[in-house]
Formats: sequence, C-alpha cells, structure tokens
Amino acid sequence: MSPYAHGTGWGTAVPEQVLTNADLEKLVDTDDEWIVSRTGIHERRIASSEQTTASLATEAALQALQVAGLKPTDVDLIIVATSSPEHTFPATACLVQDRIGAIRAGAFDLSAACSGFIFGLHLAAQSIRTGAIRNAVVIGSETLSRLVNWQDRGTCILFGDGAGAFVLQAAEEPGGVLQGVIRSDGSGGDLLSLPAGGSRYPISHKVIEAGLHYIQMNGREVFRFASRVMTQATEEVIRKAGLHLNDIQWVIPHQANLRIIEAAARGLKLPMERCIVNLERYGNTSTASIPLATVEAINDGRVKAGDKIVFVGFGAGLTWGAVYVEWTGPFATRRPFVRPAYIRFLAHVRSALLQVLRRLDAIIWGRVSHFDE
Ligand code: ACO
Repeated sequence: MSPYAHGTGWGTAVPEQVLTNADLEKLVDTDDEWIVSRTGIHERRIASSEQTTASLATEAALQALQVAGLKPTDVDLIIVATSSPEHTFPATACLVQDRIGAIRAGAFDLSAACSGFIFGLHLAAQSIRTGAIRNAVVIGSETLSRLVNWQDRGTCILFGDGAGAFVLQAAEEPGGVLQGVIRSDGSGGDLLSLPAGGSRYPISHKVIEAGLHYIQMNGREVFRFASRVMTQATEEVIRKAGLHLNDIQWVIPHQANLRIIEAAARGLKLPMERCIVNLERYGNTSTASIPLATVEAINDGRVKAGDKIVFVGFGAGLTWGAVYVEWTGPFATRRPFVRPAYIRFLAHVRSALLQVLRRLDAIIWGRVSHFDE
C-alpha cells in the first residue's frame, strides 16, 4: 500500500521590525484608511539587514523539525518556494540544506510566486506517496521588502517578509496531503513580474534607471484573476477529493488582500468564519503566507486533528492551485529531542570542515590537474 504524506512538524520565522500603515504614510502618498479599506492590511514585518530569505527559511525549518522530532539527517527532500531567493543560484534550498546539516537531502528552489507553497506541498506529497522518499521539508520564505519600490504606493503597501515551513512524513495511516490542483497561465505573465536580474534583462545601469529590478504589477487585473481562480481551485480540489464544501472545516487562502479572500468566499458561499486570515498583521508574504496563517491556527487550537482543510493560492506566472489536507499533527511515537541551536552549530562546523577539505584537495591535486597535463 502506498504511504500517506502527513504534516508532522511546522515552524515560522518573522522579523521583529514592524512597518505600520502610519509608517508608510511618511514614505508615499497614502493613508491608513485607504490601505485598510482596499487590502485589510494594518502592518507588515520587514527583515533586518542580517536577515535574508535563507536565514528565515532555516529558522522556520529547524522549528518544524523540532516539532516533528525529526533529525536533519532523516530529511530526503527540501523545497524552498520563494519569489525572493537569496541568489539566482545557488538555490536558497541548498543554503538551508547546509545550515541544518541535511546531508542526505536533495534541495531545490521552486518558482511559482505566491502559489509556490501549494506547488511545493503537492510535489513533496506526491514524492512521498509514490514511495520515492519518506521525509520532506517544504518552506515558503520571502524578503520581498528587498524587491519592492518603496516609492511605488501601488505595490509597497502590500508586501511583507517572513517564512513558514512544514515537515511532511510518510505513514501508512490514512490522512495528510491527499489531493492537489496546480495550474498556470503564462499569457498573464506581464500582470505581475520582476523583469530584471535574469537573462532577459541582466542588471545594468539602464535596467536600474528604468526600475526593472522592482516588482511591477497591474493590481486591478491581478485582483480580478485572483478572485476567480481562488473559487475555481477550491471547488476543483474538493471535487477531486470526492467531498463537498460542507465537509471542509477550514479554507486557508493565500493572504494577499482581504477583499480577494472575501470575493472568493462569496463565490463559494463559504462563511468568512471558516477562512483563516492573518494578513492584517503580516501583509502579503507570498509563499510564506499560507504556512504563516496555518501555523498560527494550529498553535491557537483552531486547527485540530481530524480537520479537513483546503489551502488555496494564486500568484505571478500566472499560477494558482489548491491542496486538500486531512490534518493529523505530529506522530505520537517516541521521538528524538531535536535542539535547533545544537543542529545549527553542528551543521556550521560540518560545513566549515568540508570547505577546508575542499581547499586542501585543491592544493594537493591542483598541480596535476587535467589542465596542466
Ligand atoms: N494609497 C492611496 N491611493 C492609492 C494607493 C495607495 N497606496 N495605491 C493606488 N492608489 C490610487 C491609484 O493611483 C488610483 O488612483 P486614480 O483613480 O486617481 O488613478 C486609485 O487609488 C485606485 O487604484 P486601483 O489600482 O484601481 O485600486 P484597487 O482598488 O484595485 O486596489 C490594490 C489596488 C490594493 C493593489 C488591488 O488592486 C489589489 O490588491 N490587487 C491584487 C494585488 C495582489 O494580490 N498582488 C499579489 C499577487 S501574489 C504574488 O504573486 C506576489
């Protein structure tokens, strides 16, 4: 029998620095009333100069491993879904793999904008369900504050920084991530983009003068697209699971805009009390928004074992999708105590040793390399 993919650990990392709507009033021509009435956002978190997409992802991943009681050496796969990777390459996921010492894991970044966490969860769950792997860490992590034009009031009010992570583990007991729908429509790519920094517009003075290294967005069109696909994807994944909306306890949507969530809920005829929303405190954290909202709801007791949940999101690409989860929580077995500070220290020592060995290797073999022969 093929195994099921259960969410057994979870963690988040949010920067301490809070940027309120009142703070934004000092940066751009906007006001609290406009932002709250159009988006529902009151404040968002902004990464400090020491915090990056990889550092937030690492913190969230270590918490998730601690909750799951899983050692980093047991992890087979790390996916970091992000729209603000540390670099074009290496992948942010590889930095996380090194910093947690997940020496048996394959690690890669997933670029599906705000839908990235849904895409990642679906793919990791499928890998577990085929029996190819047993343990995965799926992370959504963002420092979008580094990619936003702080003079563009149409975008800078929306985004925030943060990370959320889930551990998925194989088990015979039914439940966990059971169904998924992932979709894309590249014809709408221009509606939301960050054009520069890739092969199309390599960074140059000209590109920077044109502001192509900042997020560009047609807010109205994204709004219309999002309201439509959130409803469609939720309905589709519930249908695939052979259920009805009334069977679902919680819909946890991508936290982009309260009006989009309300429009989707209206389309589904779903009471807002069954949607989990925390965007008023974090803004749109892209790939991190669904795990941030979910972990909050697990920790405050709203999400309970046995709950049937739909995660649904949309983003640049255009992309959208939904996953259906039967929530179980951590396995009730004797688990090793996993201490994040200890793991971090060991991983750091291991990484430094590997670097020294690599240098020694280069010194010893360098003089007789293929190039010298
Ligand atoms: N403060 C005050 N006025 C503003 C602001 C602001 N911050 N921003 C725009 N305005 C003005 C506009 O200039 C415009 O003025 P005009 O009529 O004189 O031209 C007016 O407000 C209305 O602008 P709209 O863009 O039509 O406002 P709208 O009601 O659509 O709200 C918003 C804008 C909040 C951006 C909305 O369109 C939205 O949320 N869209 C979805 C965006 C989104 O979710 N993006 C993330 C996708 S996920 C991912 O992949 C990253």
